Amino acid sequence: MGRCPACGEWDTLKEFAAPKAKASRAAAASVRAAVPRPLAEVEPLSEDRIPTGIAELDRVLGGGLVPGSLVLLGGEPGIGKSTLVLQALAHMASSRTALLVTGEESPAQVKVRAERLGPACGAIQVLPETHLESVIRVLEATPPGACAIDSVQTLASDAVDSAAGSPAQVRQVTAELVRVAKQHGTAMIIVGQVTKDGGLAGPRLLEHMVDAVISFEGDDVRAQRVLRALKNRFGSTNETGILEMRPEGLVSVEDPAAIYLAEAGERVGSCLFPAIEGSRAVLVERQALVGPTDIVPPRRVAGGIDRTRLAQVLAVLGRHAGVRLGDQDVFVSVAGGARAPDPAADLAIALAVSSAARGEPLPGPVAAMGEIGLTGALRPVGHAGRRMRITADHSVARLLSGPLGDVAPETPRPGAVHPSTELRDAIREAFRPVGG
Ligand SMILES: Nc1ncnc2c1ncn2[C@@H]1O[C@H](COP(=O)(O)OP(=O)(O)OP(=O)(O)O)[C@@H](O)[C@H]1O
Ligand SMILES: [Mg+2]
Repeated sequence: MGRCPACGEWDTLKEFAAPKAKASRAAAASVRAAVPRPLAEVEPLSEDRIPTGIAELDRVLGGGLVPGSLVLLGGEPGIGKSTLVLQALAHMASSRTALLVTGEESPAQVKVRAERLGPACGAIQVLPETHLESVIRVLEATPPGACAIDSVQTLASDAVDSAAGSPAQVRQVTAELVRVAKQHGTAMIIVGQVTKDGGLAGPRLLEHMVDAVISFEGDDVRAQRVLRALKNRFGSTNETGILEMRPEGLVSVEDPAAIYLAEAGERVGSCLFPAIEGSRAVLVERQALVGPTDIVPPRRVAGGIDRTRLAQVLAVLGRHAGVRLGDQDVFVSVAGGARAPDPAADLAIALAVSSAARGEPLPGPVAAMGEIGLTGALRPVGHAGRRMRITADHSVARLLSGPLGDVAPETPRPGAVHPSTELRDAIREAFRPVGG
């Protein structure tokens, strides 16, 4: 059968010879005397992380690469995976051997990119190879401190009888690399291409085999690229890293809020929202567009936020705040980053929609935080202090919020903070002219 009836993948079925049952005496001889011991006596893994020199990548990894671990870096074609890996290797090459196994590009092609990135790349060892066993031999003979495989889909093992890049090959290649990395303490990054539907190529099993899965995505609106940890055995998966592609390579963006804010302002249908992303607070924009329609039911389009959540906010707006949109199309989107669902964004969405419905900008600029209950009441949000501080740091004039709860009195505050307990009141307050 060419296609697996269970997972729908091609060429994954493999013929196995049924292992012969070993003679019972031989089997008994091969049983090892395995002895469990108390966890307290086990030596911990060295916690010495290897910094990659790219601040945003280190943040997502949880402080750098862990020796002996395997990180899968996935991303769409041309997003900058090879660039990121080359920059990281260049930094690590100053303190240990750094090896680049390149199956996709010739060393001469790599050299062109290296020249763009600077002289530090010169110390990287390059191995153009697609034969897994040959790569393994190099990794075992002279184990490098750090190694990158670009990409996992180009390597093929003799042990598997299908073409490079097939699920069976990718799985075999990864399993072997995991083994060598663990055995020799090599910190390894493997680059994985992403399929058209956005999943990492190869079976999902691959994600279970590696220690961390990092996805490198484009931000559709701007030149920024976002690093996200989808899985991390050595750190949080809440962190995101933001990078910008420049002629001299990928550059960490230290203050993403500033970029997201550049085009926000007093515009119809716009409201700022102080979002929490891992250990960082960022100010992002919620945008809304409302327009009359003959379509029944009218369109509700949510970009980057949950549709059900949007429906709920619109229902509460209609029922408790007099913003009726039954004959209007509503589009809501998140401009820039911070896609994680957060009920604290409800109020910012409600204000952006109200502004779009009235055709009036919020006099401000205005930021808002608050969860909206089904009764039209506002609830306090988590991390209120950090959200307030980021709003103050970017000199946003006014912050609308639900009840504040316990925010430390010394927390920096924006010029004016307006807490309300009812959505209705928050909307009235938001449209009050500044100083009026
Ligand atoms: N001189 C330059 N200045 C700015 N950006 C550049 C320059 N040259 C290349 N780039 C950027 O680098 C990107 C390619 O980066 P890279 O080759 O690292 O991506 P990749 O993810 O490895 O791609 P692939 O899927 O083909 O392996 C291009 O899409 C382009 O945006
Ligand atoms: Mg590449």
